[in-house]
Amino acid sequence: MPTPAADHVTALLASYQDFPETGILFRDLNPVFADAVAFRTIIDELAERFHGQFDAVAGIEARGFLLAAAVGYAAGASVLAVRKGGKLPGSVLSENYDLEYGSACLELEIGQLPEGSRVLVLDDVLATGGTIAATSRLVRRAGYRLTGVGVVLELTELLGRDRLGTTPLHTIVAL
Ligand code: PRP
Repeated sequence: MPTPAADHVTALLASYQDFPETGILFRDLNPVFADAVAFRTIIDELAERFHGQFDAVAGIEARGFLLAAAVGYAAGASVLAVRKGGKLPGSVLSENYDLEYGSACLELEIGQLPEGSRVLVLDDVLATGGTIAATSRLVRRAGYRLTGVGVVLELTELLGRDRLGTTPLHTIVAL
């Protein structure tokens, strides 16, 4: 049965054909984030689903930052920023990955949390799973335990969840 958060996402989600490239149907969650009640229900659902299971929340650039900051605040947890390549200083781990359109690199600074910290990874969309798979590798290489992955929207036909192995995945809406 759809949750209150799922109802909000379904009602507010916008779709753009051929953006950013021909053949891509771009799903825009910004209208969902822009609705105060919708945003709160999303954050509450993610925080509740993984309650007691994480010490830190890792948000993936860019819209994952919005989710991670809010869930981290709600849960009293640390927040990590997983950034696109070339943005972070100091000792950094890098992972290259393929996107539905193109390829990219994600990075994480090391030494921010105690060894073995439990990390919840959040992002807006799970499509091919390349982004979250790369983030999972970063989290583990940094010495942390990946205890969950949460996304607002899962595009099921791209089979991204198959790349997450046994890590618990929570999806608010699957299309
Ligand atoms: C989008 C989305 C996810 C990722 C999902 O981000 O926000 O992070 O793609 O795709 P995947 O499951 O196929 O890896 P994008 O890389 O477009 O960057 P942005 O957040 O800066 O828009």
